[in-house]
Amino acid sequence: MEEKIKSFLEEIKGFPINTEEEAENFRLKYLSKKGLITSLFDEFKTLPPEHRKSTGKILNELKQAAEQKLADAKASTHQPASISHKLLDLSLPADPFTTGSRHPISIVRKQMTDIFTRIGFVVSEGPEIEDDWHNFGALNFPADHPARDMQDTFFVESEGADKWLLRTHTSSVQVRVMENQKPPIRTISPGRVYRNETISARAHCQFHQVEGLYIDEGVSFADLKQTLYYFVQEMFGEKIEIRFRPSFFPFTEPSAEMDITCLICEGKGCPVCKHSGWVEIMGCGMVHPNVLENCKIDSNKYTGFAFGMGIERITMLKFRINDLRLFFENDMRFLSQFRSVI
Ligand code: DAH
Repeated sequence: MEEKIKSFLEEIKGFPINTEEEAENFRLKYLSKKGLITSLFDEFKTLPPEHRKSTGKILNELKQAAEQKLADAKASTHQPASISHKLLDLSLPADPFTTGSRHPISIVRKQMTDIFTRIGFVVSEGPEIEDDWHNFGALNFPADHPARDMQDTFFVESEGADKWLLRTHTSSVQVRVMENQKPPIRTISPGRVYRNETISARAHCQFHQVEGLYIDEGVSFADLKQTLYYFVQEMFGEKIEIRFRPSFFPFTEPSAEMDITCLICEGKGCPVCKHSGWVEIMGCGMVHPNVLENCKIDSNKYTGFAFGMGIERITMLKFRINDLRLFFENDMRFLSQFRSVI
């Protein structure tokens, strides 16, 4: 057996390895599980004990020599200099380097805040877990008023008399601002809101709103109209038209809903606008005197307007998105389409 081992040693020394392929052939022939050296070790186990010592020594030397040769060969075949020209094509474009992108809701929220801050509105924020007073009470929802049913609320289990809930609208932030600041107040409040709704293409249990509030002496409905007209023109382009319809909110009087020209059919009528040519985008109105008084603002001296709109709605219209659920699914095929939009 020793003779055999010695002749393998010679064979290994002479084995030519110049390419990665030859290195792999070498490994398979000598060092793999079914390779020659492994079978020599199997044979070694059958030797009588008196032969084992010297044979074992040269067998180990053989193995080490093979491993060393393979390691050396691998190191040299990996040298860039020895990579054959076939493998290296310098004219190939580099691998693309993908950066992250903003979520469409973040893109539109930023556009909205930019538009309003240009005309003097400042951004304010409030908590997502609210108390009953800031979400309902101060906004003139009486305890048993059916208007509370308009908003299916997630209540938070809590001890004590205070009722805690996930805010159903960002109107709660206007209360916090009025409680803490003196007019003139000009603020917008973007944020997440929650409602106990069945999830569908048009509704979700979480979404985003932007609330707006302007309080000063002599603020009128004309100011409301002009501000919102400016907003939609900046957001959707100068051709857009607006229309107001009377509505009801406990915290505004008079209240209105504002529609814009349907962007899908440009006002001609289509399934999205239910063939009316108009789509609703927000609620608005003059702040109810009770709300001002609840926040310790003199309703004889000051008036103001407020508005609230869903960011998802604006985003869907702007980018022609037809399913609200897409915003919350984190599907890269959807999100990566917004890479080029800043
Ligand atoms: N909070 C209302 C909602 O979630 C939207 C709204 C309507 C906000 C009228 C306002 C407003 O500030 O004046 O449906």
